[in-house]
Parts: sequence; structure tokens; C-alpha cells
Amino acid sequence: MSLDKEKDFGTPARQSEQLVNLEIDGFQVTAPAGTSVLRAAASIGIDIPKLCATDSLEPFGSCRLCVVEIKGARGMPASCTTPVGEGMVVTTQNKKLADVRRGVMELYISDHPLDCLTCAANGDCELQDMAGAVGLREVRYNPLGENHLGAVKDQSNPYFTFDPSKCIVCSRCVRACEETQGTFALTIDGRGFDSKISPSQNQAFMDSECVSCGACVQACPTATLIEKSVIEQGTPEHAVVTTCAYCGVGCSFRAEMKGDQVVRMVPHKDGKANHGHSCVKGRFAFGYATHKDRITKPMIRKSIKDHWQEVSWEEAINYAASELKRIQAKYGRDSIGGITSSRCTNEETYLVQKLIRAGFGNNNVDTCARVCHSPTGYGLKQTFGESSGTQNFDSVMKADVIMVIGANPTDGHPVFGSQMKKRLREGAKLIVVDPREIDLVKSPHVKASHHLKLRPGTNVALINALAHVVVTEGFIDEAFVDSRCDLESFNKWRRFISDERHAPEAAEAVTGVPAGEIRAAARLYASAGNGAIYYGLGVTEHSQGSTTVIGIANLAMATGNLGREGVGVNPLRGQNNVQGSCDMGSFPHEFPGYRHVSDDATRHLFEQNWGVTLQGEPGLRIPNMFDAASDGSFMGLYVEGEDIAQSDPDIQHVHHALRSMECVIVQDLFLNETAKFAHVFLPGSSFLEKSGTFTNAERRISPVRKVMAPLGGYEDWEVTQMLSNAIGYPMNYSHPSEIMDEIARLTPTFAGVSYAKIDRLGSIQWPCNADAPEGTPTMHEQHFMRDNGKGLFMLTEYVATHERTTRMFPLILTTGRILSQYNVGAQTRRTDNVAWHAEDRLEIHPHDAEDRGLKDGDWVGIKSRAGETVLRALISDRVQPGVVYTTFHFPESGANVITTDNSDWATNCPEYKVTAVQVAKVGQPSEWQQNYQAFSEEQLEFLAKE
Ligand code: SF4
Ligand code: SF4
Ligand code: SF4
Ligand code: FES
Repeated sequence: MSLDKEKDFGTPARQSEQLVNLEIDGFQVTAPAGTSVLRAAASIGIDIPKLCATDSLEPFGSCRLCVVEIKGARGMPASCTTPVGEGMVVTTQNKKLADVRRGVMELYISDHPLDCLTCAANGDCELQDMAGAVGLREVRYNPLGENHLGAVKDQSNPYFTFDPSKCIVCSRCVRACEETQGTFALTIDGRGFDSKISPSQNQAFMDSECVSCGACVQACPTATLIEKSVIEQGTPEHAVVTTCAYCGVGCSFRAEMKGDQVVRMVPHKDGKANHGHSCVKGRFAFGYATHKDRITKPMIRKSIKDHWQEVSWEEAINYAASELKRIQAKYGRDSIGGITSSRCTNEETYLVQKLIRAGFGNNNVDTCARVCHSPTGYGLKQTFGESSGTQNFDSVMKADVIMVIGANPTDGHPVFGSQMKKRLREGAKLIVVDPREIDLVKSPHVKASHHLKLRPGTNVALINALAHVVVTEGFIDEAFVDSRCDLESFNKWRRFISDERHAPEAAEAVTGVPAGEIRAAARLYASAGNGAIYYGLGVTEHSQGSTTVIGIANLAMATGNLGREGVGVNPLRGQNNVQGSCDMGSFPHEFPGYRHVSDDATRHLFEQNWGVTLQGEPGLRIPNMFDAASDGSFMGLYVEGEDIAQSDPDIQHVHHALRSMECVIVQDLFLNETAKFAHVFLPGSSFLEKSGTFTNAERRISPVRKVMAPLGGYEDWEVTQMLSNAIGYPMNYSHPSEIMDEIARLTPTFAGVSYAKIDRLGSIQWPCNADAPEGTPTMHEQHFMRDNGKGLFMLTEYVATHERTTRMFPLILTTGRILSQYNVGAQTRRTDNVAWHAEDRLEIHPHDAEDRGLKDGDWVGIKSRAGETVLRALISDRVQPGVVYTTFHFPESGANVITTDNSDWATNCPEYKVTAVQVAKVGQPSEWQQNYQAFSEEQLEFLAKE
């Protein structure tokens, strides 16, 4: 097999209605105005030599390798910086041009190690290619003259090396860091011959601001910046396009392989969500897939006090099925259920909910979206008629004002964060609503116009105050509301929100945000032209999460910021397939496509297709499953890809529920925290080992393609199918494409989706059906998806959370993510990403730290009404006084020991973001942590030994 390289057109594509005709080497070419001559030539297969240009970056014109002659023009202009002109006549090759290019290359090569044969980039180096392309045969300069060949390598980054002896100072890396990533970590230090690339102030990469996104490595035309995996394994030989399995951006990657080993993951230029960009997780943190902790043999045991016993797949599946049937016979049909994960593919999730509804005969299926974006599903479905984000990511490039509420895109959704920063550098204005100073508030060349630093738990009061300004200061888009919205609900809402109790002056006392700031932010958003709202778990994970989502929808409708590019309401989904797992019917009350189980027509459709009678009553939600388990009425659970024993709130209650069950079946890559309470372990397959699709935060269905055989022998959907057959509900799919065909047949929004179409288009945004055969980038363009086509306004009374600060618990703990780690950390903790974040810390404001006599790095006990844990302190003014903050990527941190069982009124989404706590200096781990450690060590001892 050979590695088909992606073509590099030299400079970015230009969008223009105006087309320009010119002649290049005797061929007629037509290109949009603004296109470079270099790109126009490449578009007809004439590849002009180049070094400092690449099509992901704006042209720079420094190397002069791409010179051409243009009839009537003086000298030899660089084709990368010369735009096409009407009637232009261009010559790309003659003796004079060849001589100039050879001269340029001779100079470069004279200061470059001549170790091509042993260089890691041999065969994948643009400098080498260009030396060949210009016919360089000898270098006349003295090899012992002044040079940079002795420059010292920087190996500090765990994933790539920087060898300045090979650098040609083309500045592609510097521009990639600025233009693509927006971090500005690299500079060119010095001038002329002395100029060199420098991370920050002449620091090592790991000590600089570098966030290891890999954009510079991608852009480097030489082996100066190169992946360590390529140095170790050699250049890859073939590539498979697939989709990142980490966050909801859904970046497209080429898995570049050698045999069945992944050498590197390279962001795919044609990826519509990422356009060739990546972050440290998708680009580099794939080593977990082949980590030694993977469990690849099925295991069973009678009790969690027993050692695990390795068994054949057949034995494990039959045991699991017989246990489930035994439990149902003893405790009733509703005594078992299942939980799917947003890390699973659409096809896997669909199959799990089908197994539970049709095979178990109940609706006890839920998903981890319960604990993150279920309020989005509820709030947007009620108001807009469809529970999804309204835009594609590229829409942000047309936004004039961007409001980010309770989200941290540069850490949680990094590639989209970079795109957003690009738009902000172009001049769009930014409003950040967050209790903490996230990076976006102030980063190189980006500064928020307003940071509304509200108290955790007061989102609804703030959104209401913004809406109050819109209504009372005349910012309503009357034409939009008249034609697109339900007027009765609007008039009711207008009266409600105009009341003085929603005025910014009243909200100030509740939120802590000065009224003037709220007014100014509301005016900015409402008069923007295009105002776009992006929000995250800081909105949803509250007791009023659904109310805030509804408030955001009201605000966008009232200002007419819906139904076109540049605007919209955009939930940033945490995990790779949160959108898809919700779409696939993994909630207990909904079939695929968000149709209620009590709807007779829908239920009959599924009954006919699945050949069984289905329950018309919603099943148990995750927290209800735990309650029922503790009460003794829910005794069997099938968990695919989810780690509820770490990620769910009030973890001591969860652990008690898991201990109470008679059969817990876990299908996963590792012996995760939940598996420590399990009786059957079924080896899962990583995203590299299976086929399927993920749906990202823009409703984009992207392909997941198998690049290696499953280490455990089966893809996850096959395991679910085996379990279904064993309990007596037959399934006979031979490939996930057949599952997608069934989804399309039974789900109107997916009616036009097929693997063949995904292969042809690369990805598809649903709805994809007869009305939109190639998908829908922007929702609600002509009408809302509700039955009458009108957007519905709903009242959003602010109700303070029960979780209040008191003298005993005077601080509010809120939680979030960090760039290098992902969710419960099961994957990223098993990669070199721990170099950036090896433990969860408690951020605390200097004043609060001083009050408690805390220094940076001290061990602190964090006590809430639910429990106590211990972390090290990180003193930071990113948090406001009275608020402390932590991440939750390490099980031993026990962040969910202290979160309470408060939850959203509509969806039960836990209130992770507001916990009243006390913080004090301590000398040892909490009792829970000590017990956890002992339990965890015992469970690892129980693993079957080789
Ligand atoms: S490190 Fe690579 S991209 Fe950067 S200037 Fe040197 S050769 Fe060019
Ligand atoms: S890896 Fe990314 S952040 Fe780091 S220097 Fe390169 S482009 Fe900049
Ligand atoms: S932004 Fe998200 S989808 Fe993209 S590479 Fe990073 S983790 Fe993967
Ligand atoms: S490629 Fe045009 S000047 Fe370098």
C-alpha cells in the first residue's frame, strides 16, 4: 500500500463571485478573484516549486522558490503572493526561473544536514522534494562555513521534537501557531543569518505557551518539527480517514498506518468540522487504544468479592444473558436496564436501546447525556421544535458578536475555540458569561468586550436581565417575531420579562454582575447584526439548566438571531457523540428521533419493524435506576462505554446502588471504576477497531472507520448483538451500515442518510431527507421545527438553587475541564497527556486562600453536605472570591463525592456546577479517598493473572 498524500495547493482557496481568466504555461485557467497564481496553477496540475507557502496559511513570500514570469510585469514575482489578474499570461518554467530556484535551494541546502537517508522525514520532506524538483545537483558553498548544524534539539514535548539544525526559517510554524491555532507561542528570534524559531522567550516547548495542537508540526516542510512516533516507527505507508473519538467538535483525521499500527493521526484537510486543524487529544493522545491496561478477554465472577475468571466469549455472553433472565424472572420485567455512552457510535447506541426496548421488554435505557446536555434536549425541543444546535461551526465566521455562556471552548472544544478566536481577531466582539476567567476572556489578540462574572447558579437571573434590556430598550426584532414566532406566547413572555424584577438592577444583587455591564452586554448582542450564542455545561448542569436553555432560546428569537449563518443557539457538546446518542433514542422516554414512547403511531412503527410489543410508558432515568437498585427493585444493568461510578454525582449513592445489584455487565476498554463493581466484563473496542458514525455538535454525521482488528475479537455492536441473541431477541446485522439503513428507515430526520452518501460527501448534517437530500447546515431557515412551524416563547422565572452557602459551607465549588484531559480521564490518563495535567487541583482565590492560611500546593479538604475529599490547592485569581473550581479527570480526586443530588427540574441533569463547600488545610486524604484506594487496589488484585 502507498500513502496517498493530500494535495497542497500552496495558498488558501478564495471565495468570490468574480471569476478571473488567465493563461498559465499556455493553458487557460479560471479562478475566483483573490486566488494566487500559485494556486491557480496547482488547480490545473502545474505544481510550481514552493517552500514557505502551504494552503492552510496566508502566503508570506519569503523563500522566493515560487517565482514566475508574468508577461508585461517587471522581474520575477513570487506566485504565492501574486493574485490572478484578468488576461494575465504566466510562465512557470524556463531557464532563468530554473537558475533562480536552484540558487535559492543551494543556499538552503548549504546550511542543512545532509543526512537524508537516515532522517525520519526521508521520503516525506518538502525540502528534499524541492531539491529534486529544481534539479539541484551540487552545493558550491563551503560546508565548513558558518552554519546552524550544531543547534541543539528540543525534546521536551512528549509527542514531537524540534531540531533547529534542520530549520529553514520559512516561518510556516510561526504562522500556523498564529493563524490556525491562535496561541502565538512561536516567534522568529534575531535577524538575517541569526534568525531562528523560538517558543516564547527562547524557552523549551514544554515551558512555553504551546498547547501541543500540532499545527506547527503539520505545517513544517522539513524534519525540524516532527512526531516522535514517526522517528520511532518510520514513515507511514497507508492512511484511513476517520473521526476523532474525543470531543463534540468531531474532527476528521487520517489515521496514518504501518501495517495495523497507527504511526500518527493527521488532521484531514477536507474535514468539514476542523479544516485540517487538531488539538493535543485527537492529534497525539491515541496511545490508550493499545495501552497495556486494555482488557481483551471476557471475564465473569459471582460476586465483587471474587477474583475475575477469564472465559470464552460464548461463556461470558451466555452467563450475562442467563443472569438477566434470572433477575427478570425473580424481580419482574422492569428490574433490569442499560446505560449507553456518548463515546459509542450511533449504531452501537441504537442497538443498545433496541436490545433494551425489544429484548429486555422495557424502556429502562438512559445515556450519559442525562448528566450533561439533557436540558438542551428539553429546552430547544420545547422552543424551536428540535433539540439540537442550529448552526455549523463555520457559521461563527459570519458572527458579529459572539456570546459564550458557561463554556470554555479553548479547553473543551479546542479546534472550534481556535476558529472562534480567528473570527474574534477579525473583529467580532465577544461577551463571556462565566464565573471564572476562561482563556478567551484575555488571550493574545483577543479580549472580551464584557466578562459577566456571575455567581454560580444565577444564570437564569442573568439571561432574564439581558432579555429585559432587549424588551424594554426596543431591541426586539418585531418582523422576525411577527412572522416566525407564536405571538400569544411572545406577548405573554414580553409582559413577564418587562417586569422590574428582571431588570439588570434587580439582577445585580443576585448575580453579582454590575447592572451597567449587563445592560451594555445586552445592547451589544441585540444590536450586533449577527449575534451568535455558544453555551456549554455551565448552562445545563444546574437545577435550572432547562430554564436557562429556554431563556437563551427566547433571547435569540426576540432578537431575530436565528435561521441564517452567523447567528443561532449552539450547545457545545462535551463528548464525541452526545448529539448522536440522544438522536438514537437512548433516553427512557424517547424512540430514535426524539419521539415519545407513548406516541401510538411511532410505537406501532417500531413494533412492526422489530416484531415485538413495546412498552408505552417511559422507563427509569439513571438516578431512578440507582434509587431502585438501593431499594432492591432494580437488580441487573448493562453498561456500554460509560463510567457511572466516576462520572455521576453523589458517588457514594451510586456505589451503594452498584453494590446492591445482582448482575452488573460492563463493556469497556479498561477495568474502569464501574467495572470494579461488575460481575461480567465484556471487552470493548476503541474507535480505531470498529466502523460506525459519530454525530458532532453541529449535527454532522461523520464516519468512524476500522483501521485495525478489535483487540478483543469483536466490535462493540457485535457484542450487543450476541447478547441480544443470547437472551432470545434475534439480531442479524452483518455490518454497521445495515444498522444505519434501519435507523434511516425508522427516523425521519435520518431518512436520507446512508454509508454510501457519507462516503460521497465526507459527512452529513441532519436533517437529511427528501427536503434536504445533502443535509442541513443551518436549522430553522424558513420555519421552526415545531408542529405549527412557530417558535415558542416560554416563561423563565428565576428560582434560586437549594444549594446555598452558609457559615458551615461558605464557598461555592464549580467544575470544568482542561484541554489535555478528557472527561473521566480513562483514555487521556493513559497517554503522555499527563505531562500537562497529572492531578486535579482546587483553584482558590488568593483572598480565600489567605483567610484559610493556604499556600499553593497545600493539601486541602473540601467538605460539602454530601461528602469530603482532598486535593492540592492552586491559588489563582481566575476564580472570584467565594468561588472554588476543580476539574474531575482523576477517580481518586473524588470530585463527585462532594457534588450533591440536586438536579434540573425537567431532566434530572445533576447540578454539578454549584456545590456549597468549606475548604481547610489537611494533612491526609479523606476517609472516602482512603477507602476508595483500598477498594481499588483490591479490585485490581482480583484481575485474572496471565
Ligand atoms: S521549524 Fe519548520 S516550519 Fe518552522 S521555520 Fe523551521 S522549517 Fe519552517
Ligand atoms: S503545537 Fe500548536 S500551540 Fe504549540 S507551538 Fe505548535 S502550533 Fe503553537
Ligand atoms: S477538538 Fe475535539 S474532536 Fe478535534 S481533535 Fe481535539 S478532541 Fe478531537
Ligand atoms: S513559496 Fe512563494 S515565496 Fe515561498
